[in-house]
Amino acid sequence: MAVESKVNRQATCSAPVNIAVIKYWGKRDEKLILPTNSSLSATLDQADLKTTTSVALSSEFDSDRLWLNGKEESITNPRLQNVLQKIRSLASERAQTDEEKAVLDAHVHIVSVNNFPTAAGLASSASGYACMVYTLAQVYGVTDYELSKIARVGSGSACRSMYGGWVAWNMGTRDDGDDSFAEQTHLADHWPGMKILILVVSDRKKGTSSTSGMGTSVRTSELLQHRITEVVPKRMAAIKEAIEARDFAQFGEITMRDSNQFHAVCLDTYPPIFYMNDTSKAVVQMVTQYNTMKGEVKAAYTFDAGPNAVIYAMEDAMAEIASLTSHFFPSTTPDTFFRGTTTAPPAPSAELLSHFTIAQQPEDSLQYGINTQPGPGPQVLTDEECLLDSSGLPKATSA
Ligand code: DP6
Repeated sequence: MAVESKVNRQATCSAPVNIAVIKYWGKRDEKLILPTNSSLSATLDQADLKTTTSVALSSEFDSDRLWLNGKEESITNPRLQNVLQKIRSLASERAQTDEEKAVLDAHVHIVSVNNFPTAAGLASSASGYACMVYTLAQVYGVTDYELSKIARVGSGSACRSMYGGWVAWNMGTRDDGDDSFAEQTHLADHWPGMKILILVVSDRKKGTSSTSGMGTSVRTSELLQHRITEVVPKRMAAIKEAIEARDFAQFGEITMRDSNQFHAVCLDTYPPIFYMNDTSKAVVQMVTQYNTMKGEVKAAYTFDAGPNAVIYAMEDAMAEIASLTSHFFPSTTPDTFFRGTTTAPPAPSAELLSHFTIAQQPEDSLQYGINTQPGPGPQVLTDEECLLDSSGLPKATSA
């Protein structure tokens, strides 16, 4: 694409959201964002959830600027500054030609949009920072570096969004964080038929942020110390084996136990933190009774730092979970409730319902569901998808 000469370089990329099955909760270094335990997640399909970011770099820009979901935001956020500074110092180590040296003095314009509502409380900082780092790395020519280490200083969980499929974030032990990075354990298509359903809870209350919540947990929760030393190392090994063997019963049990323990740590934090609400608890009961009926773990729930539920299940079980969800969590807009790859599920049979004792929840306790699955990591997009115009400002559609 022809660009006006004042823009020296530009790139547009997309990056995925990830949902942890072994949770990251706790930092041993708050500036470098070094965790107190390793974690493991699935990267979600970008057809359903993604961030797209364009970066333009020009010697004619007066300052660094950032637009998020159509609104200009301050660039002074210390985490953002840390990310920019790390990318620039890498570029400076590599600069040889005059053009490469001139790039170091130029400013950037960054435009970033999500294809999912940020207000829904879905993990947008992970895909957001992953996308920003990936795109900046293209523009600054530093893609040969282990970029998950830079995404990590934006937001811990963002390092896992730098890869597709199943991704482990190895906590590392070094003080400088050089051994704390993400790595793919299995490809996105390793486990055919694996489905992921996100249930967005209708709850607009602003809860405790992950950053401040985990800080209080590290300072006050004895259970967290036990989790760090005794529980997570064994679970990391066991869940990798379960994924390798495509053993859903093992995978699902570990996933649910780890979510339960993370929320138990929140309760053990002083003062306590509550992320799950009554709707979340009803989802737990629905999944538990489903597994009891099947005599085996066929579906697994997990909850992050908010009330939204994420359910992992194989395709056939997920079809039943979807129809049970539409029964127990009635919606006033059932035809548009499930977004993503499937259409509205059939009503559950009387026989299926006879195995459940949970009550139907109040209408619209859940806002909507997103059907998705594991997917690939960040992608470089074409110039046609650029969110900036030729003068380096957001295009009307992205502003
Ligand atoms: C509960 O990555 O949002 O989602 O590093 O402070 O930005 P910061 O925290 P963040 O924490 C995510 C916590 C979690 C569990 C997880 O994703 O592993």
